[in-house]
Amino acid sequence: MLTRVDGPLKVTGRAGYGLDRTLPGMVYGYVVVSTIAHGEIEAMDVTAAKSAPGVVGVYSPFDPLALRTASSPMFGETWVPLQDKEVTYYGQPIGFVVAETFEQARDAAMLVRVSYRPRPALTSLADGLATAEDAPESRGVPSSLAVLAPGVESIEDALAASPVVVEATYSTATQNHAAMEPHSAVAVWEDGVMTVYSGNQASHLHALELASALELEPSAVHSVNPFVGGAFGGKGRTASPAFLAAAAARALGRPVKAALTREQVFTATAGRAATVQKIALGAERDGTLVALRHDSWCSTDAQRSFVEPTSHGTSREWYATRNLAISQKMVPLNIPPTTFMRAPGEAPGSFALESAIDELAVALEMDPIELRQRNSSTAPPGKDLQWSSKHLDECFRVGAAQFGWTGRRPGGRTEGDWLVGMGAATAMFPALRFPATVGITLRDDDTAEVATSGADPGTGLLTVLSLVGAESLDIAPERIVPQLGDSRLPPGGLSGGSTATASVGTAIMIAANQAIDELLALASAPGAPFDGQDALYADGRVLAGGRSMTFGELLRALDLPSLHVTGSSAPGEELTKHSFSSFGAQFCEVRVHKWTREARVSRMLGVFDGGRIINGQAARSQIMGGMIWGVSAALHEGLEIEENGRLANGDFAGYLLPVNADIPDIGVRFVEYLDTLHNAVGARGLGEIGTVGVAAAVANAIANATGIRVRHIPIMIEDLL
Ligand code: MOS
Repeated sequence: MLTRVDGPLKVTGRAGYGLDRTLPGMVYGYVVVSTIAHGEIEAMDVTAAKSAPGVVGVYSPFDPLALRTASSPMFGETWVPLQDKEVTYYGQPIGFVVAETFEQARDAAMLVRVSYRPRPALTSLADGLATAEDAPESRGVPSSLAVLAPGVESIEDALAASPVVVEATYSTATQNHAAMEPHSAVAVWEDGVMTVYSGNQASHLHALELASALELEPSAVHSVNPFVGGAFGGKGRTASPAFLAAAAARALGRPVKAALTREQVFTATAGRAATVQKIALGAERDGTLVALRHDSWCSTDAQRSFVEPTSHGTSREWYATRNLAISQKMVPLNIPPTTFMRAPGEAPGSFALESAIDELAVALEMDPIELRQRNSSTAPPGKDLQWSSKHLDECFRVGAAQFGWTGRRPGGRTEGDWLVGMGAATAMFPALRFPATVGITLRDDDTAEVATSGADPGTGLLTVLSLVGAESLDIAPERIVPQLGDSRLPPGGLSGGSTATASVGTAIMIAANQAIDELLALASAPGAPFDGQDALYADGRVLAGGRSMTFGELLRALDLPSLHVTGSSAPGEELTKHSFSSFGAQFCEVRVHKWTREARVSRMLGVFDGGRIINGQAARSQIMGGMIWGVSAALHEGLEIEENGRLANGDFAGYLLPVNADIPDIGVRFVEYLDTLHNAVGARGLGEIGTVGVAAAVANAIANATGIRVRHIPIMIEDLL
């Protein structure tokens, strides 16, 4: 198995991140953020800041940088700073101080005096529910949707006619990405070209957003993204430091480096919405689901930047039921922007749905896994396109056997002072592909470059380029030179939506076929080594008439340093034939201390059906990270927003995250079935599904152990008293 090609660089500190770039003549920018949650900036006194040592520029809404609202085909409109005097959340970027050193910029930023005309702020989702708005269509699902059996008038009628009904309200906390690499950028304006070194999830999209904000031609922006220190959706859209550094570099004619502080990352970027979800399940006594209603509310910021589509997953992926109704509302608040975060929609949505399913199992006195299997869908609810490949039952079967699920008792068990319970949950995340182009360059030294503009934020995409490239070109992975993270490379490989392996992998296969075709045409051209012969390609060699040459030898014989091709793939006809999703079964054992009520996760196992596994180690690590994130959501993470909009725990001192001692050994297994109906590589996404269902499995295990059903996350000691 090939280990991560970028692993040694990352763990030895030799991986140079965007912010590590230091250039001659460079100056440093420091972002100034608001200290109210809502209102208008009346004035900003920058006199002292401007005359502070080393300061070369102070920018504010009164003296802004040349920027305008950015837009990109993937993310739509993205907010850019300093364009108006409105403050809509506490910690919003409102100024930018540039100086010769970082310390000078920071000191001068402290001298900026801001006066506000404050307005009342709405910062709590509970308080905002009354003014909720219908969410815009998201992921192709309208804000409300009902699929009812013939003759059924409404979901309420279907529920009323159900012999067993479970109805409850669940809520999930606001979370921040808190990526280790803070949002940052180094920008250089030279000869009409803006070069920006910055962590992102896709260089080509980053460059497009910057070009749009700076009103430059896309070709005039060069985004370089060598490594990414955590992204998971939080670096999809371009953040303030890149916009500000780029605009300031252009204004000053000097390279500008800017990074958010750790505390600023909590407000001046974007995080996961809080949600409130009402679920009603109606079932026959044998467990057949006959009605499912899932109504969701999510928080968002004043710009309404993102809808956390919790109920949409319910409508697209989960259970077979004759009657289904969902609604999705959003609540604009004076809080930092909301955005994609690992399994957007499914992560909080599965907490509610999979807790409710567990509650239904209790009401039916039925095993919760059996209840899930009884209602397993063969197609998304209300659709007739069957899943291309679904082995969820096997995931549960394999997992239950390994985990010792048959030892689970309805009331849990006691071991000394610990109440021990087991919980399970389904995980699903749609399998998508995005258009992708990959360039392959066969070189005369018998190596091959496989390149696309996307990013490897720790997901292993660089290694996927090596592995799929090697397989497609029939050479050893060590001979592949994988390239990512540059907007000048062929556009593809957005690390988002669990799409990169399937999208890029398919494009690699297409490009490799093209490269081989062109190589063979060159080989048998007049005057070439295989002139007029019917040449074949295998094992990195061209063969005909009992002779063979490596592609490098052939290129050298032809006096060609390299042969370059591109290959593109995009989702197409398969979408009219099947539905696509990854699946998984989550198992969790929790111990709750009888007296202190402390909850400890003691065992976890996830069994996943994600199609073909390209790299077992990377896949396992990716899933394990997701499962840890799920424990974090269940027991640790949550932003506390004070009434005035200030974050009470907006830093690593106050924002709880699990440490190694909180995480048990985690089992990860795959049932591996190639899904070539989805794409030629046969792999579906694994990036996000690892976290889906975990919080519910933890809550279900706690309910099993203690009899206490907690319907919100994070679950605290005081919930279990
Ligand atoms: Mo991921 S939330 O699709 O970057």
